[in-house]
Amino acid sequence: MKKYFIKTFGCQMNVYDSRRIASVLQRLGFGEASSPRNADLIILNTCHIREKAAEKVFSDLGRIEQIRQERAAEGLSTTIGVVGCVVQAEDEQIAKRAPYVDFALGPLTYHRLPEVLAKIGRAKGETVIDTEFPAESKFDFLPQNTSSDGCSYLAIQEGCDNFCTYCVVPYTRGIETSRPVEEVLKEARALVAGGTVEINLLGQNVNSYHGTDAAGKERSLAYLLNKINEIDGLQRIRYTTSYPADVTDELIDCHRNIKKLMPYLHLPLQSGSDKVLKAMNRRHTSGQYLETIAKLREANPLLGFSSDFIVGFPGETDADFEATLNVVRQVGFIQAFSFKYSRRAGTPAALMPNQIEEKVKKRRLDILQDLLFSYQLNFNKETVGKIVPVLFESRGRHAGQLVGRTPYMQNLHAELGKEFLNKIVNVRVTEATTNSLSGQKEG
Ligand code: 5AD
Ligand code: SF4
Repeated sequence: MKKYFIKTFGCQMNVYDSRRIASVLQRLGFGEASSPRNADLIILNTCHIREKAAEKVFSDLGRIEQIRQERAAEGLSTTIGVVGCVVQAEDEQIAKRAPYVDFALGPLTYHRLPEVLAKIGRAKGETVIDTEFPAESKFDFLPQNTSSDGCSYLAIQEGCDNFCTYCVVPYTRGIETSRPVEEVLKEARALVAGGTVEINLLGQNVNSYHGTDAAGKERSLAYLLNKINEIDGLQRIRYTTSYPADVTDELIDCHRNIKKLMPYLHLPLQSGSDKVLKAMNRRHTSGQYLETIAKLREANPLLGFSSDFIVGFPGETDADFEATLNVVRQVGFIQAFSFKYSRRAGTPAALMPNQIEEKVKKRRLDILQDLLFSYQLNFNKETVGKIVPVLFESRGRHAGQLVGRTPYMQNLHAELGKEFLNKIVNVRVTEATTNSLSGQKEG
């Protein structure tokens, strides 16, 4: 049996895509390899969001080419493929810098993998590239997404029309599209039938979801959440990533009424300065963001928030940066992801004057992260002594250890047998650090 190995970079959408790519390969008769060294087909699923992520692809490709040569010395052939956002943005670069790559597919064309693999045989020595924004939806051509995992991702929306001036997503994932309601429900039911107890609905702008129902009527994320809530056996629902300006009152009501909806929301603010938000082309001010948070808290006082931040956006002054710190102090995020602004070719911000020096970016990032981590650590420490329901998703580093997630997306380690994998277990939290919790099964 031929074997594949997929290495995934970037966001949860890429993790989801890799699963779907794996299902295409399984239908073609491939099995999963335990390492690239044992794989006849190696695929890198790439991320283009920041320069560092994109460059990583080329260093990894160098290592993969070495593996191919080692395997060739043993008489084994290896096919190398690159998929994902770097391909969409840099297909020619890949063919030039890594000519040994057999195929390169953008994020919207991986359903064409069977045809592409057939073409490679005919076009040895050439990289087969497909970076079209196709008229058809890849989802119509993929095998049904099944999973025996306790926690599964489900992409409901893809792409983005917001055009934040720093961001490559509209160019790599295309314009915003939503999958039809019935298709999403069918996938959700199949996942739950396979053992999934938590579904995380994914989209680059998941809360601007507007898929059509069976009657052709456009429906919102709130409608979809209510429908998914009706699936028996499903215990937890999450959705990510949301755009602050598109949080509707109807969606806020979901946090009041849907008990399965976890009390954790990732709502990226990016900057606390209205001047910077405007330059970023964000459709909200920091005041509007805070109002939305207040309404959400009123709907569910137990909600915890996380966010993304960019420091050192072109033109960001010390006062602008201070405004970001101020919002952090007001909200007290329980988790956050923060980045130095990365200049991305083809985006408007890359051409803006007043680019910020690297050392200033680094200093601001350090200050921001210190503050963010202090809130995160406090929140984690407050959990110590409490009993929390944890969905165990994977084995830990040591034998006899499992790792899971609390309702607030905290990682929790516990000494537990593998029979508890993919189950929700009540755990008493015993220790907390900034990034994880430890605990013991209750009872
Ligand atoms: N530079 C730094 N961070 C970025 N992000 C998106 N584009 C850039 C960029 N050019 C961050 C944003 C976004 C997260 C996924 O990545 O904070 O929310
Ligand atoms: Fe990276 Fe964005 Fe592509 Fe996800 S959608 S892989 S974050 S560039």
